[in-house]
Amino acid sequence: MTVWFMTTNKGKVEEASEYFSQHGLVVKQFEFEAVEPQADDLKTVALSKIEQAIPHLPNPNDMLLVEDAGLFISALNGFPGVYSSHALKTIDIHGVLKLMSHLKSEDPIQDGNLRKAEFRAVSVLYKNGQKIVSEGVCPGRIGHEAVVTNGFGFDPIFIPCDLDEEGNALAVGVMGAKSTHGKPFGAILLDQKQQYSHRHRALQGLLSQLDMLG
Ligand code: IMP
Repeated sequence: MTVWFMTTNKGKVEEASEYFSQHGLVVKQFEFEAVEPQADDLKTVALSKIEQAIPHLPNPNDMLLVEDAGLFISALNGFPGVYSSHALKTIDIHGVLKLMSHLKSEDPIQDGNLRKAEFRAVSVLYKNGQKIVSEGVCPGRIGHEAVVTNGFGFDPIFIPCDLDEEGNALAVGVMGAKSTHGKPFGAILLDQKQQYSHRHRALQGLLSQLDMLG
């Protein structure tokens, strides 16, 4: 079964493909330029994009996947949030680090709280005239410098919170069973990112509802 992922971001396709292929689904990139509505929530944006793309689905029997994601930084009142893509194109990760340069503490827990942020993703899957929606969140903090080895977008500066045995995220600064040991997404491999990522959690939610699409 083919899932067309409507995105221009090859990194997103790689992440979805790595997970969906384990469940017998083939993910292919669908490069359709949808008009992004002015909205302040990810779900409205994702639903608008999928409505625009449905008539252009290469094969009406295939599935269509759309995702809208963003980085929400607490100290910046949720900026860049739904404007994440625009922020990357304009001020880039270095501009974000600059905006936060005054937020630091010698105490690691206080430092983490000052630099608290979360990634959010809303994914929508369409099949046979029906849609399912799923949301994923990854709490964490913004590092003090960029580490650009793997990944894309804000990966070089986003450090996820540790996880407990069940994979639940812990508070910033709390040691858990799973930890990147202070490394950002940009410094770890994809299979490790999948354990924490907003995208992976949203996609897991879609698969758990897939039966509803018949
Ligand atoms: P989009 O609008 O869903 O494509 O995402 C908004 C911006 O957030 C894009 O510029 C992405 O590069 C960035 N972004 C989304 N997900 C991730 C991620 O998992 N890691 C790093 N950056 C991301």
